[in-house]
Amino acid sequence: MSFEPILTKYRHEKDSHTIDFYRGHGGYEQAKKAIHDWAPDDLIEEVKKSNLRGRGGAGFPTGVKWSFVPKQTDKPKYLAVNADESEPGTFKDRVIMETDPHLLLEGIMISCWAVGINTAYIYIRGEMVHGYNQLVSACKEAYAAGFLGKGIFGSDFELDVTVHRGAGAYICGEETGMLTSLEGERGQPKLKPPFPAIEGLFGCPTVVNNVETLANLPFILEKGADHFRSIGPEKSPGPKLFCVSGHVEKPGTYELPMGVNLLTLINEHCGGVWKGRKLKAVIPGGSSAHVLHADECDVNMDIESLAAGGSMLGSAGVIVMDETTDMVDALLNIMKFYHHESCGQCTPCREGTGWLEKIVHRLHQGRGRKEDLDVVFDVCDRMIGKTICVLADAAAFPAMSFIDKFRDEFLAKCTNSDRSTAQATSGAGGVNV
Ligand SMILES: Cc1cc2nc3c(=O)[nH]c(=O)nc-3n(C[C@H](O)[C@H](O)[C@H](O)COP(=O)(O)O)c2cc1C
Ligand code: SF4
Repeated sequence: MSFEPILTKYRHEKDSHTIDFYRGHGGYEQAKKAIHDWAPDDLIEEVKKSNLRGRGGAGFPTGVKWSFVPKQTDKPKYLAVNADESEPGTFKDRVIMETDPHLLLEGIMISCWAVGINTAYIYIRGEMVHGYNQLVSACKEAYAAGFLGKGIFGSDFELDVTVHRGAGAYICGEETGMLTSLEGERGQPKLKPPFPAIEGLFGCPTVVNNVETLANLPFILEKGADHFRSIGPEKSPGPKLFCVSGHVEKPGTYELPMGVNLLTLINEHCGGVWKGRKLKAVIPGGSSAHVLHADECDVNMDIESLAAGGSMLGSAGVIVMDETTDMVDALLNIMKFYHHESCGQCTPCREGTGWLEKIVHRLHQGRGRKEDLDVVFDVCDRMIGKTICVLADAAAFPAMSFIDKFRDEFLAKCTNSDRSTAQATSGAGGVNV
């Protein structure tokens, strides 16, 4: 299937990050068109019609989210661009920010015009220094060209954009955690409702959108909602960036139509499983997603198909594992991450992520008991749906699916299992959670 990239078309071209390059390839024409020709409400309807769904992980329809922001309000409205990109296995937004930052700025202009916003913040993960520098210089160029600031394109529309660096906490990617961090507080999620569209940054109506989501807007305006909807499956259409890491010959960020088959992505685009080995498992949507057994990988990479296949598209961070992968080791790595990143506000998450790490660690050392596998499910059951944000669920999903689908490997690490290969040690069974 041949597909002409849209969001990453110029990523390998020299100076693609500069305003001259961007304008030389039609850049900022769609923002100009939006401000001159589109009434904000009509623009929101067009984005709704396009079926664009958020690329940050939850897949919420973008136009619908915008329509929740009150039209009549005395408060300022904000756009908070989620550029935290912290989900393990995810490296797509950085490609846009590093190689085509003006595409993001144009998307920001279009969304702010549609929703009536004059102030936007880009919250970028602190470690992404190159992306930060590219964004800051793109903003300077856009201000100098009169595309940001007052009187944009001869209208009375004004827009200010500030780039803000986070300190590198996964939880600051969760939208309310990000807003609290932007306010200068410790980045901790808040209970919803109220949702940010009603009460977000500084208590004011706020749209939170992912970088890739916003980068789609110039294309939607250029070609129209119907054309956008014709790419990929109707319910979650459009171009999509897939981040492929792990045991493939050619890892990287691939732009393809939403709904590309996972095996096609791995075998045709990424050169197949590396070293001629067999596929064992794939995490299709960042580490929070349920792992897929190799037998389940003939699935399309879109929101509905992956949900039907028992996992999720999430951030489209595709982590490929070959036949030599130790699944207990892989899960331990993931559990350490969630335990470390829990913000600690909710007991089921703070304690649960710690317990999961301890149990998997014990199994990893060959000191586990087969009852531990049931305890993992019990702990997960007490985490899912019981906390302020879904980090707890994000930790529970991989724990349950790894054990469910690769149970024999976990049993083989238990001291009291028929399948056990583990040698009892003096400390066997001695650690309680
Ligand atoms: C623990 C956690 C981490 C998240 N990290 C990110 C992130 O790094 N980037 C992102 O865009 N969304 C992230 N999200 C999703 C955001 O909360 C939010 O749904 C998204 O930014 C909305 O934008 P969208 O509608 O354009 O996808 C995260 C959610 C959770 C629960
Ligand atoms: S679920 Fe975890 S990360 Fe989310 S608010 Fe509660 S303690 Fe913090």
